Amino acid sequence: MKLLVTGGAGFIASNYIRYALSSHPDYQVINLDKLTYAGNLENLKDIESSDRYTFIKGDICDGKLLEGIEFDAVLNFAAESHVDRSILDARPFLQTNIFGTYNLLEAALQRKCTFLQVSTDEVYGSVEKDFFNEISPLQPNSPYAASKASSDLLVRSYIETHNLKAMITRCSNNYGPYQFPEKLIPLVILNAINKKPIPVYGDGMNVRDWIYVIDHCKAIDAVLHKGTPGEVYNIGARNEKPNIDIIKLIINKTAEILNLDNVGLMDLITFVDDRKGHDRRYAIDPAKIERQLDWTPETNFEEGISRTIKWYISNEQWWQRILSGNYMQYYNEQYGERLKN
Ligand code: NAD
Ligand code: TYD
Repeated sequence: MKLLVTGGAGFIASNYIRYALSSHPDYQVINLDKLTYAGNLENLKDIESSDRYTFIKGDICDGKLLEGIEFDAVLNFAAESHVDRSILDARPFLQTNIFGTYNLLEAALQRKCTFLQVSTDEVYGSVEKDFFNEISPLQPNSPYAASKASSDLLVRSYIETHNLKAMITRCSNNYGPYQFPEKLIPLVILNAINKKPIPVYGDGMNVRDWIYVIDHCKAIDAVLHKGTPGEVYNIGARNEKPNIDIIKLIINKTAEILNLDNVGLMDLITFVDDRKGHDRRYAIDPAKIERQLDWTPETNFEEGISRTIKWYISNEQWWQRILSGNYMQYYNEQYGERLKN
């Protein structure tokens, strides 16, 4: 089996590639990644010399390039993935997330192969109570979520129109090793380690449903191997938490691991102006994948967060390189004025 994994140099797909190579010793993996600001080949340093792994630097929007790649199944992780950036500039989101998905659908159709679209719970929008299931209406609120919902609808149309063997997964917020520091959990860990203000949007009571990245990877693998073509599978760990609780938990754990005073670190918490259109609550009902594909998450939150904090503490070179590059320009643009007020 030859898997084409797109966006393999990013957070979730690099974890997936490592998982797939170790759990399927007869599989080949081709990683197609454009290496945007979020793509980092250091995420795959330990497996880059494997003879079952190939890296291609390229854009999923490049149809000609796709024509020349042979594969049996495609897992589409490649995306512009950060809500705040989609508020600053939506264009690359529409290009990669929609047009890129269309190109991959065409490539999969020509080869009559399996297509797995890695999507997000954010396509369902925000919910006050209850949980999103697979037939909840799509009500995306950010340009990021709208671009992902659009690509999900394109996938649906290829299933209905062309009988493409495609499946969609919609997962809740991930955390774990190799996550780019623009996202909440690594940002809080790094700012706590570096004693920088920790920006909390609005009242800090927005709720997200968190899952350890390896549990997400295992769920994707279960869908690839046991999923029914044409189906959507929600993935979540039944682990809803308000942002402020997560931030305090990370501060306490970081203080414990580094033997620091947690009161000092708590003082770093800084409430800032809210994100525009900020979704109040995401909550996934994962009953379908649990029941039909016999998947359940294995990592509880406390354990996953400790493991993640320890990973960032032991991999300073990895994040120092990011903090010394272009990322700080985005960081200053995003937080500079807000942290001053
Ligand atoms: P990420 O931003 O860390 O990585 C995205 C990767 O895609 C990068 O390596 C980047 O270089 C690559 N890429 C971007 N545009 C490309 C293009 N045009 N062609 C080829 N490669 C391109 O993202 P992530 O957080 O790992 O998310 C991966 C996928 O999972 C995304 O589709 C995202 O929507 C989805 N998802 C993420 C989460 C989460 O919490 N992070 C939750 C649910 C679903
Ligand atoms: P994020 O990691 O960007 O994921 P998403 O917006 O896709 O859920 O943000 C998670 C939550 O944390 C979200 O409610 C916004 C909030 N947040 C902050 O309060 N401060 C921050 O600096 C960031 C990046 C996010």
